[in-house]
Amino acid sequence: MRLDFNNMMSDVIGPEHGITEQELKAIESLSTKHAKDLKKERASGALPFLELPYDKKLVAEIQETVASLKGRFKNLVVVGIGGSALGNIAIHTALNHPFHNILDDQGRNNFPRVFVLDNIDPDRFSGLMSILKIEETLFNFITKSGATVETLSQFLIIIKHLRDKLGSRYKEHIITTTDAEKGTLRAITKREGFKSFAIPSGVGGRYSVLTPVGLLSAAISGVNIVGLLEGASSMDVACQSLELWSNPALMSSVLYFLSYTKKRKNILIMMPYSSQLSGAADWFCQLWAESLGKRLSLNKEVINTGSTPVKAIGVVDQHSQLQLYMEGPYDKVITFWAVKQFRNKIVVPDVNNTDKDINYLKGHSLNDIMWAEFEGTRLALAEQKRPNCTVLLDDISAFSLGQLFYFYELQTAYAGKFFNINTFDQPGVEASKINALTMLGKSDFVEMKKELSIKLQGTIKRYVM
Ligand code: PA5
Repeated sequence: MRLDFNNMMSDVIGPEHGITEQELKAIESLSTKHAKDLKKERASGALPFLELPYDKKLVAEIQETVASLKGRFKNLVVVGIGGSALGNIAIHTALNHPFHNILDDQGRNNFPRVFVLDNIDPDRFSGLMSILKIEETLFNFITKSGATVETLSQFLIIIKHLRDKLGSRYKEHIITTTDAEKGTLRAITKREGFKSFAIPSGVGGRYSVLTPVGLLSAAISGVNIVGLLEGASSMDVACQSLELWSNPALMSSVLYFLSYTKKRKNILIMMPYSSQLSGAADWFCQLWAESLGKRLSLNKEVINTGSTPVKAIGVVDQHSQLQLYMEGPYDKVITFWAVKQFRNKIVVPDVNNTDKDINYLKGHSLNDIMWAEFEGTRLALAEQKRPNCTVLLDDISAFSLGQLFYFYELQTAYAGKFFNINTFDQPGVEASKINALTMLGKSDFVEMKKELSIKLQGTIKRYVM
């Protein structure tokens, strides 16, 4: 993997939008200080997500479970949301066959189809339940807090379906993944005796893809989880340095920080040139937004900071978003993920066509066309003085995805240091949660119900239709 940031620099796109060598020089000692502080925190055990690639015991436990399940289920449904779903989606989208779920059993090597129920959209839920044979389905309920309304409501509905169909055997169709001690789902798991995995206590949802949260469903569907962890640990090794110029995750965080603070780039476009990395881009967007979008600094000053991540897919969004990136406001920095070697190479054949408008394509592969479009786009953007950088991946394998996960988790942790915020909390999502739970009548919030209904009535004032 390589981070190419040439097109972020002032000698390519000019000093108004590009970072100067002096600006990088000026931040070098602060970068080293942040890298040292992070290293100390890690050594004290405060950042357990950084140790996840080394958990051999977990790999053995997962592999044993997978072996015991082999051939028993045709479907795996993961139920979870946010950090308890996006990593799973990222892994399956990247590493399984692009049409895994419509392959027959042999095509899937008898591994199950994989579905993720994150949203509680009743039509989606009902659609999925109507096509699955529940007796052939394993459910993995994932929630770190063990209390998330979306996950628990689906849990209760599914349990009823399972019990109605399978009687006391229903438990064999459930695996829970939750905190080892705390939360409602852990309490139910203990009481009912469900098979279960523990999420390490200091690892937050959006940093948990390399725990059983992401690894279990990956392994059950045939993904090489050892490869994922080896990729992650190789990135750990590559980012050990305390020096800006020899630590790619540190450099990446500095580039985004300087773009935001010195060049007013408050939108970060994440644009993989690969459909299979679409889920990984969604995973990144959550990691970046929830970690860095904060009202308060660590000194409790109101700063309302954060750059807005936006997913785009190459080449598709060249025909949708690119116009805006090229000619709209100078408020964006674009990151490309480019893949050197896809799993397949598809060549445009010679069909004796003589139309010169399409004849030039013969002999080129879709791979060449994808690459030419990526190169053409990043060059065109740079010529318009639009800052962009590229993460170049050798391929889309378990190893490279593991590298990517670790790289972005670490660079987000570094970025939090530059922005001087708490990278690991999410106080901003609490208010909406409390409002919803109050409306739903959760006992802890009974007192607030009257007040909330007055507020809600007060909002129905202006409307059309
Ligand atoms: O990153 C986070 O902490 C959140 O996105 C959570 O993952 C999300 O809210 C789901 O929480 P839980 O896993 O507790 O159900």
